[in-house]
Amino acid sequence: MRIPLPLLGTFALSTALLVAPAQSQSQPQNPDARAQVALEQMTQDEKLSLVQGFLAARMSPEELPDNIAKGAGYVQGVERLGIPPLAQSDASLGVANMGGFMRPNDEATAMPSLLAMASTWNPDIVEEAGRVMGAEARAKGFNAMLAGGINLVREPRGGRNFEYFSEDPLLSGVMGGRQVRGIQSQEVLSTVKHFLLNAQETGRTFADVQMSEADMRESDLLAFQIAIEIGKPGSVMCSYNRVNGIYTCENEFLLNEVLRDDWGYDGFVMSDWGSVHSVSIRQGLDQESGRAADRSDGYFSGPLRGALAEGTVTWDDVDRSVFRIVRTIYSLGLAESPLAAGQPIDFAPHLQLAQRVAEQGIILLRNEGNVLPIAASASRILVIGGHADMGVPQGGGSSQVWPVGGASLSLEIPGDKIYHRRLYMPSAPVDALREQFPMAEVLFDDGTDITRAAAAAREADVVIVFAEEFSAENHDQLDLRLPGNQDALIDAVATVNPQTVVVLETGNPVVMPWLSKVPAVLQAWYSGNRGGNAIARVLSGAVNPSGRLPITFPAAEDQMPNPVLPGSDIIKPIVGTDLYDIPASDQKLTITYPEGSDVGYRWYSTQGKQPLYSFGHGLSYTTFASGGLEVAGTTASFEVANTGDQTGAAVAQLYLVGRNGESLRRLVGFQRMDLAPGESRTGHMSIDPRLLAEWVDDRWLMAGGIYHFALGESADRLGDVVEVRFPDSQWSD
Ligand code: BGC
Repeated sequence: MRIPLPLLGTFALSTALLVAPAQSQSQPQNPDARAQVALEQMTQDEKLSLVQGFLAARMSPEELPDNIAKGAGYVQGVERLGIPPLAQSDASLGVANMGGFMRPNDEATAMPSLLAMASTWNPDIVEEAGRVMGAEARAKGFNAMLAGGINLVREPRGGRNFEYFSEDPLLSGVMGGRQVRGIQSQEVLSTVKHFLLNAQETGRTFADVQMSEADMRESDLLAFQIAIEIGKPGSVMCSYNRVNGIYTCENEFLLNEVLRDDWGYDGFVMSDWGSVHSVSIRQGLDQESGRAADRSDGYFSGPLRGALAEGTVTWDDVDRSVFRIVRTIYSLGLAESPLAAGQPIDFAPHLQLAQRVAEQGIILLRNEGNVLPIAASASRILVIGGHADMGVPQGGGSSQVWPVGGASLSLEIPGDKIYHRRLYMPSAPVDALREQFPMAEVLFDDGTDITRAAAAAREADVVIVFAEEFSAENHDQLDLRLPGNQDALIDAVATVNPQTVVVLETGNPVVMPWLSKVPAVLQAWYSGNRGGNAIARVLSGAVNPSGRLPITFPAAEDQMPNPVLPGSDIIKPIVGTDLYDIPASDQKLTITYPEGSDVGYRWYSTQGKQPLYSFGHGLSYTTFASGGLEVAGTTASFEVANTGDQTGAAVAQLYLVGRNGESLRRLVGFQRMDLAPGESRTGHMSIDPRLLAEWVDDRWLMAGGIYHFALGESADRLGDVVEVRFPDSQWSD
C-alpha cells in the first residue's frame, strides 16, 4: 500500500509556516523511503520541474514566485507533495548580492575570502562561519547555498583563487567540508564546486584540461573526496570546463564512475550556470541550473522531453535524478523548514565572528627587527593607499556580498558588464588605527602621487602602505605584479622611511621587488566586513598574528609550472578597459598542468625551487618550539611549546618527506594550538593513508617500506625527520 505524504500547504511568506508542520505518524522517516513514496506519486511534469532551475537573477518580479528570494537561481518544488522549492544563493563568503543590485540594500555579513579562512588553519572557525552564512541565508529566504569552493589553487594568477581555500588536498578538503557542515546545520543545502579542475577563469567555458587519472585522484579529486566525506554536501556543482576532452557536466567518468560508483555519493549533481551543452542526465547530471544561462529554455526542458520521446533518455533515468534530489531535500530537513524571507538577523555576533576569522587569517610574512607590532609610543603614523581611509576590498563576481553597513566605496569597472563594481567593506583601517593608537596622529595619503607620498613618509614615525589587487570571477591576472604604480610607490616610500610596513590586500600571491627595503609585510587578503579592525589590531599587537599561508608565493613567474597563463595568447584586450575577451573564433584552449598531482609547494620541493614564501609560512609575535615527534602507524604525537612572552597560536604541520628513498613533500596533518607563554602541549594527529599512497591500477597503493615524516614550520622549514616502517603494501579503493 502506498502511504500518502501529508500536504504541507503553501510555502508562501506566512509566519504560521515558520513552524514546521508535524509529520504524520505513518510517514516514513527514512529519506530514501520518503523519496521513493514521493516519486511514485509524482506526475511526469512534476518530475521534469525538479531537474531544471531558473535564473532568478534575470527574472522580473512578475515571473519570480512571491516566496522566492532573488538569488542565483531557483527550482520549483512540488507543493502538493510537500517538496519545497530550492531558493539558491551564492555563497562563498556569505549571502551574495552581486554589486548590491540583486536585492538593493539587502545586507549580509561579508566573511573574509576563502584564502583568508584557510589561512586560519582552524577548521572550527570555518565551520562556525558556515553556520553564520547558513543562518543568514535561511533568514533571507534561501535554502540552498552555492558554497564550498574546493578547486585547488593551481594557477596563482587565477581570478577566483579568493573563492578557493588552498593548493593542498587535505587543507582544502577539511576546510571545505567544515564550511559545508556549518551551512547545512541550518537546514540549508550546500554545494561543493566547481567539479573539476576549473583552476583558471580564462577560457573557462571551453578550456580542456588534460590530466591523468592518477594525478587527479591524488590532488583535486582527493580534495573533493575529503570535503564530501566531512561535509556531506547535498549537491556537487560540475564546472564549465572540459576534462580530458569532455565537459564536466557530461563527464561520465567524473560524475558516475568516480563520484557515485567509487565514492558512493548520494546527493545530486547540479550544473554551473551556463555549463550544460546537452541532455546529459544519463551521463550523471541530475539538475540543470539557471537553464536560461545554457540556452533560452535550457536542455532539461524541451530537449529532454524530445530525448524521452525518442527513447535516448528513459523515465528511469529521470526518476533516478529526481530520487537523488528529493532524498537530499528530505535528508537535510528542507521539507520541514519552509522558506520565509525577511526574518530579522542579529548581525552583531556575526560581525564579531567575521573579525575573528580575519584576525586569525592575517599572515605576518616578514618582520625584520620586530618592526611590528607598532610601538605604542609612535606619534605620527602615515597610512598610504588602498583606499584605507574608506574600507577594505572584496573580490568580484557571483560571490560578492553587500556587507552589513553597506559598501563604503563602490567603484565602477570601466567596460565591465558582469561584475558591476569593486566594493569596499565598511571597516576603514585608518579609523581602526586611530582607535588602536589614540595618542598618535594617524594621517592618510591616497598614494596616487608618489612624490607627495614619499615626502609625507619622511615625516612619519611609521608608514603603512596598503597595497591592493582586485580579483574577480571571469578575469585572471596576467602576471604576479601589483597593479598600477604600487611597486614604485612602496619602493619610494621605503627608500625614505625604513620603518615601512606593507599590508597586502590581494586575492593572489604577488611578487615583491621592494622586499629588501621593507622590514614588515602582512598578507591580509580580502578581510571582510570587519577587516580594517582586524588589520589594525594585528598592527598594534592587540592580536598576535597566527595565519599561515595556504598557497605558495612564487619568487618569480618563471618558477611556476605554467610561467605564462594558459590562454593569454588568445585573449584580446577590450579597448578603453582593463578587461579582455576571447573572440568566438579563437575559443579553443588545452590546458596541461606540468605539476600533475604535485600542486603548489610539492612542485617547488620536487623541482628544488625556492619560492618567495612557502606554503605554511607565517610568523608570530611570540616564538614556538616543537619536537618529540613520534609516528606509530598512521598516528602521530609531538610537543609544541610557546617559548616567547605572549599568548599565540602555533600551527603544527606534519609532512611526509620521503617514501622508500623518494623525496616527497606532502602535508599529512595539521593542528592549530593556542598556547600561553611558557605553555607546552602534546598534539595528536591521525594520518589519512591516502595521503601516503599513490593511485595505481584503479586503487590506492600504500607501498610497504620506509616512510619519513617531519614537523614543519612551513613546507620548506622542517624539524627532525622520523622514520617509520610499514611492513606490507596495502591496497584500498
Ligand atoms: C559561478 C558559480 C556560481 C553561479 C551562480 C557561476 O558563474 O561559476 O560559482 O555559483 O554562477 O551564480
